[in-house]
Amino acid sequence: MQVIHTVSELRKLLKNQSSIGFVPTMGNLHAGHLHLVEIAKQHAECVVVSIFVNPLQFGPNEDLASYPRTLDADCAKLEATGADIVFAPSANEMYPETQTMTIAPPPIARELCGASRPGHFAGVATVVMKLFNMVQPQIAIFGKKDFQQLFIVKEMVKQFNLPIEIFAGETVREVDGLAMSSRNSYLSNQERASATQLNRALQTIVAAIKSGSKAFSSLEASAIQQLNQAGWQVDYIAVRSAKSLLIPKENECELVVLGAAKIGTTRLIDNLTVTI
Ligand code: PAJ
Repeated sequence: MQVIHTVSELRKLLKNQSSIGFVPTMGNLHAGHLHLVEIAKQHAECVVVSIFVNPLQFGPNEDLASYPRTLDADCAKLEATGADIVFAPSANEMYPETQTMTIAPPPIARELCGASRPGHFAGVATVVMKLFNMVQPQIAIFGKKDFQQLFIVKEMVKQFNLPIEIFAGETVREVDGLAMSSRNSYLSNQERASATQLNRALQTIVAAIKSGSKAFSSLEASAIQQLNQAGWQVDYIAVRSAKSLLIPKENECELVVLGAAKIGTTRLIDNLTVTI
């Protein structure tokens, strides 16, 4: 496995590669990320993983400075998983000049996570576009844990005719159901013990939908109330179309139940899909 930091090294290494699988990350890797690397290995000869904490996707009051940076431990995990190349550029390598050209994502990027994180998905789409142009992979793998991000990346690939196939990896969870996330390391012991409540709230909604409920607004409202009573600050709980991320139409069969909430100062997200 080679660990490189510049675009020119990357281009040199990948020059004669025609089967590249790409997994973009912000590092502090866990089993969820490594699952995506496994998927890449199944479909490509050369697996490239990027590690870059992208300033463009963090709001002014978010955790850019404190986001965990653990490059050595990440590389050890990637080596053991069988990645071929780790691309870990500096901020200056990624943005040698102010990024005045950016990707403007579709209106759905202003809803759900985008409502409380203005500019977040423009920052994600812009860095993913840059990374795609640097790595030029045939396939790229994203996690369903960030369902809205996955949706927006797929839309970007489609609308810009990028010759890249996007694969989706299932959300990898702790044994109690908490979705793995680099941000889980911010949780105190007490917060960690309560953190599974978000997933359980989504599961309650899924169970109600499976048993025939279509009262999505009241299911959302009671989940929000329960979590708020348990001390969370809920950002949103929403039942949406899994295909469009819009409010489900009558007779829509593929749904996704998404949630974002803060426990203490840590913002967690999760989602579950459900077919009716
Ligand atoms: P990051 O949060 O590091 O996540 C990198 C990839 O891992 C994303 O596709 C994310 O959906 C996936 N992932 C995270 N937790 C997961 C879990 N528990 N199970 C399965 N997959 C999981 O998402 C980003 O970085 C950034 O926005 C990025 C796309 C790299 C652009 O900067």
